[in-house]
Amino acid sequence: MNLELKNKTIIVSGAASGIGSCIFEELLKEGASPIGIDLKDFQGSELEQRLRDSSLKIGHDYEFFSSDAANEDLVHLTLGHVTNLDGLVNNAGLLGSDSSHGGRSIRSFRKMMTAHSETALVLTEFSYRRMKNGGSIVNIGSIETIMAAQDVVLYTSAKGDLWGKTVAYAMELAPYNIRVNMVSPGNVNTEKNKAQYVDPKPKEILRRFEARTPLGRSVEPIEIADPVLFFLSKRANAITGTNLIVDAGYTRQLWDPGWSK
Ligand SMILES: NC(=O)c1ccc[n+]([C@@H]2O[C@H](COP(=O)([O-])OP(=O)(O)OC[C@H]3O[C@@H](n4cnc5c(N)ncnc54)[C@H](O)[C@@H]3O)[C@@H](O)[C@H]2O)c1
Repeated sequence: MNLELKNKTIIVSGAASGIGSCIFEELLKEGASPIGIDLKDFQGSELEQRLRDSSLKIGHDYEFFSSDAANEDLVHLTLGHVTNLDGLVNNAGLLGSDSSHGGRSIRSFRKMMTAHSETALVLTEFSYRRMKNGGSIVNIGSIETIMAAQDVVLYTSAKGDLWGKTVAYAMELAPYNIRVNMVSPGNVNTEKNKAQYVDPKPKEILRRFEARTPLGRSVEPIEIADPVLFFLSKRANAITGTNLIVDAGYTRQLWDPGWSK
């Protein structure tokens, strides 16, 4: 399937690491001109590592800005030169439990909302006005838009907010032929996650999680990037306001075989 993303200008937030860096790399492989924005520097990032052997050049084939995507002024300062856009991926985020962020204080709540929700609001407002020939916006959700566990009120709230934005912006921007969708991953084998599951206790938790996942495994970053690129492409021209769950079946299972024994 030809995604026809060649020369398309697409902003990816949180592009320095993890899922965002994979989406960015895949966009480059399709001949698109991605623009990354991340709090982290490009130098020493996972994205730099991914592109190390590539002949593509920063400033020519792609752009990257180390900046806060939740800050309207900074976004206009760093991305103000961009006048025509085809797509936006709101991927920036902050992972972790409530306790790992110091508990459910207003401060921690705002930190979480800034990373997921304010970045999406600022970049969506900036981007849609520059999508002169229609466009596509993809928000990266989580299976935690529809389910939760202990100690994740902050993260789940932020992802719920992003789902609200997906639906509302899909309606708001439909008259401009701009589509807005969400891709919601289960547990993804990012470098950061892999490093967390090395010690025996977290390793066992992951083993049990994967054992009760119908496909018996976590999801690879490329398996998130693929549907994101599909939504960005014209192949998804009639799809807006939807949430695609990519979780190897985790949220579909009523009970796993072990529970009935
Ligand atoms: N990794 C998973 O298992 C998983 C599962 C479900 C959903 N997700 C979602 O996928 C997205 C990417 O996650 P990841 O695992 O790659 O995490 P990650 O931490 O590797 O990447 C997130 C990036 O967002 C950047 N960022 C945060 N706030 C920012 C801001 N204000 N401005 C600019 N950049 C900012 C960070 O610097 C970081 O590089 C997140 O939205 C996350 O919630 C991840």
